[in-house]
Amino acid sequence: MVNEETVFDVCDVSFAYEEKQPALEHVSLKVPAGESLVILGANGSGKSTLLNLLDGLYFPVRGTIAAFGKPLTEEALRDDEFNFSFRRRVGLVFQDSDVQLFSASVLDEVAFAPLQLGLAREEVNRRVEAALAALRIEKLRDRAPHRLSGGEKRRVALASLLTLQPDVWLMDEPTTGLDPRSQSWLIEFILEQRKQGRTMIVATHDLSVTEEIATSICVFSEDHQIVASGMPSDILNDHDLLHRCNLSHYHARVIK
Ligand SMILES: Nc1ncnc2c1ncn2[C@@H]1O[C@H](COP(=O)(O)OP(=O)(O)OP(=O)(O)O)[C@@H](O)[C@H]1O
Ligand SMILES: [Mg+2]
Repeated sequence: MVNEETVFDVCDVSFAYEEKQPALEHVSLKVPAGESLVILGANGSGKSTLLNLLDGLYFPVRGTIAAFGKPLTEEALRDDEFNFSFRRRVGLVFQDSDVQLFSASVLDEVAFAPLQLGLAREEVNRRVEAALAALRIEKLRDRAPHRLSGGEKRRVALASLLTLQPDVWLMDEPTTGLDPRSQSWLIEFILEQRKQGRTMIVATHDLSVTEEIATSICVFSEDHQIVASGMPSDILNDHDLLHRCNLSHYHARVIK
């Protein structure tokens, strides 16, 4: 039964690219508000695809997805009111920052979301400055996003969502390409958002990051199914499971 406290209800969803490249097989999961869910899985297992579906960028071939108790369909998102409220509440940090960044300058990029929300200029400026400071990218404000380094791009992408202040963050491999200080900042940031009651859904391979941020975990097998979900302590101690799902190498590194 879906209620207000359920952010996403994914029911028996399958998805294939171009109708032939399977990416999700019979995936079901419920994400309650305030959860910090980590999606674990090997390369190609379906993590990014699931996040793209949760962001309403693709739609299931079979099965259904509900967001905040309402069906998340192409048709529903054609409704301006639903679209606006969904886009305002849910933000996706893409695995590849190049997909996300499109503005001529970092400043324009970071100001885009609050301008779209129709906020007053002072509030836009306040959010932009706070986001630039939080990600320590003030000095990059006049630079072209596509000419930045990989880690800088990722920080700009994070800042551009920070100004939106979404209730639900979808993060695809957010720590990849970040230096140690930025990684620590990101973990602290996720924990802080969690404390404020926001819902975090994070796809990663990194079991040490997982240990720090997860309140629950689901695990994809390499054949695109969710084969386990539960408490971090149970999943991260299930060595057979992690090995079967091609995640154990990372775990071996954690427990050394
Ligand atoms: N645009 C696409 N066209 C065709 N097939 C795709 C496309 N994107 C992904 N796939 C395929 O869908 C499956 C799931 O891919 P997905 O990107 O969701 O995996 P992932 O778990 O995010 O992997 P990674 O850890 O490498 O990011 C893979 O078999 C992949 O080859
Ligand atoms: Mg991916």
